[in-house]
Amino acid sequence: PADPADFDKAAAGRAAVAEVQDGMLVGLGTGSTATQAIRALGARVAQGLAVRAVATSRASEALARQLGIVMLDFADVPRVDLTIDGADEIDDRLYAVKGAGGAMLREKVVAAASDRMVVIADGSKRVATIGAARVPVEILPFAHASLMAALGEGAVLRMQANAPYLTDNGNWIADGRFDLHDPVETAAWLDTIPGVLGHGLFLTEVDGAYIADAGVVSRLER
Ligand code: A5P
Repeated sequence: PADPADFDKAAAGRAAVAEVQDGMLVGLGTGSTATQAIRALGARVAQGLAVRAVATSRASEALARQLGIVMLDFADVPRVDLTIDGADEIDDRLYAVKGAGGAMLREKVVAAASDRMVVIADGSKRVATIGAARVPVEILPFAHASLMAALGEGAVLRMQANAPYLTDNGNWIADGRFDLHDPVETAAWLDTIPGVLGHGLFLTEVDGAYIADAGVVSRLER
């Protein structure tokens, strides 16, 4: 990788993948950092590690299959041992904002079904307190106008090629601008809006994190 952040993404990915043990069912995240973990897991599988995995997006599923990782359909999976995923922001409380890559709903259901979930990131993602990043909100297209109104003036509908960005679930995304001085309250409010199908505030799911900064990997634990 040419970008120094790519070395850090790869280092964080390798550190998290070192937690994977024979026989585990592993949850694979989405995004450029999770991609590094999937590659690291693929390398261990090529050396004989026996695992099965589920993916949080079609893109990660395709990559994992290509690397020879045995993939299960999450719809058939009651529990996951360890999920490894990236984040847009993460703080020392292990509060994270996720979903710049659009996969936060599947990422959250997989994280919630996991005995352990670790975030991997380069140093640029680590913040004192989450709040600078927009919070992606997956919305039901049927209700988009009323939901955009409910989410407030700061929210913008995510677009791609002049059309609303479509999630893997066939829904749209509003990138919200919210006051996060009390993220628990903000998440609870989002969770009450009918038609809001998910959002990128991960306040209870993250158990640990590997943050790589200029080649040095720090581990955070809840
Ligand atoms: C995907 O929906 C996101 O939650 C990603 O985990 C997040 O956006 C981090 O992506 P990068 O690793 O590409 O920054």
